[in-house]
Amino acid sequence: MSDWNPSTWMNKEIKQQPTYPDRGKLIEVEDTLSKFPPLVFAGEVRNLKKDLAKATEGDAFLLQGGDCAESFAEFNADNIRDTFKVLLQMAVVLTFSGGCPVVKVGRMAGQFAKPRSSDTETVDGVTLPSYRGDIINDIAFTKEGRTPDPNRMIRAYNQSAATHNLLRAFARGGLADLHQVNRWNLGFIKDNQLDSRYKVLTDKITEALAFMDACGINSKNTPNIKQTTLYTSHEALLLNYEKALTRKDSTTGDWYDCSAHMLWIGDRTRDVNGAHVEFLKGVKNPIGVKAGPTMSTTDLIKLTDILNPKNEAGRLNIIVRMGAEEIGKYLPDLIKAIEREGKKVLWSIDPMHGNTIKTSNNYKTRVFDSVLKEVERFFEIHAAEGTYAGGVHLEMTGQNVTECIGGAGDITEEKLSSRYHTHCDPRLNADQALEMAFLIADMLKKARA
Ligand code: PEP
Ligand code: CO
Repeated sequence: MSDWNPSTWMNKEIKQQPTYPDRGKLIEVEDTLSKFPPLVFAGEVRNLKKDLAKATEGDAFLLQGGDCAESFAEFNADNIRDTFKVLLQMAVVLTFSGGCPVVKVGRMAGQFAKPRSSDTETVDGVTLPSYRGDIINDIAFTKEGRTPDPNRMIRAYNQSAATHNLLRAFARGGLADLHQVNRWNLGFIKDNQLDSRYKVLTDKITEALAFMDACGINSKNTPNIKQTTLYTSHEALLLNYEKALTRKDSTTGDWYDCSAHMLWIGDRTRDVNGAHVEFLKGVKNPIGVKAGPTMSTTDLIKLTDILNPKNEAGRLNIIVRMGAEEIGKYLPDLIKAIEREGKKVLWSIDPMHGNTIKTSNNYKTRVFDSVLKEVERFFEIHAAEGTYAGGVHLEMTGQNVTECIGGAGDITEEKLSSRYHTHCDPRLNADQALEMAFLIADMLKKARA
């Protein structure tokens, strides 16, 4: 590793990058960013690694979720608070019903850059660069909007800093107090069954808290009752940005990518010899790797060798995203290979990206039941292999959007247009996310029994 530095990826082949017309500006921005304060600290990153090690060993469960793509336009305190609240609700459901500690990681405070299936987009005979996320260019289909602008990285950094700040305040400043569990409910929950199921659970928690209080266990002597930790994560796609936020930890001399606690490599950029793997092998953060249907057992083992040479629990998370119909074909062999080689990995399921469809009126959507089915298959396959289904990775929001079909609120194809706000892929709304948490909690409980 002695020949690694935050720029060695620049000698490797790289995919999914913008072409900046103004190279001078790009270098200027990288230089500016490299002098800005880190957004997370090495000690926090090490705590996440310890928590993920527990999940790897079957003693915790990873809940990772948030926007497909954060945007500049939808940046406001309510959006951040509502996503935070749904994540807390889901975590409480999983902890209580699933009987297992939950490690909470947001796709938040830096999830801006998007891989695209095509470099360009053509509308009415006009061809322009594809939208690659607000950190790179604008979603507006104009020549100016679609031209990659390095200054957007500064704005993304500032938004990420403010988001981190608010998340820390929510986690530590009282909103996450378990005594508030009733108030995390979002106003618009329409499904009565879901609402009452949540109420039954919060009543039990309130009762348990009163009992504990009577026994002398309260938030004064047990801070975990009134505060929590929400870690942050995003896809480390735009390496100019990641490089500029990578810092040497003064206490250990190790490199950390201080743009988020956890970074992952997308399914399109996980080439064993590519730039993204080269970059992430050198930073000490926990790393996720997406595994779609084209992931071979050979590549998976090579990736674990490169990214986790010391075979440490908590370092590597394989995020499976095969699709409900495909997972049964590919996942068992991947698990068998990992077991054969004695590799320590945390397995989690992203049931979103393998289940995207287009409706007849051209909406990109996901059907709740397909999402659920892939999670169920994931748990079944792990049960059959004798391994641990350790987490879930969701695209979701605390907002009352209509982007995915089905679920308790019964969103139909016709209703998609009413509140379809995503800047990229369709997200579960708060109802759908909470319902999913209840269903996953049942699977988790069964798996752990
Ligand atoms: C994503 O997580 O937003 C994403 C693009 O996923 P994948 O790399 O699995 O397609
Ligand atoms: Co997505």
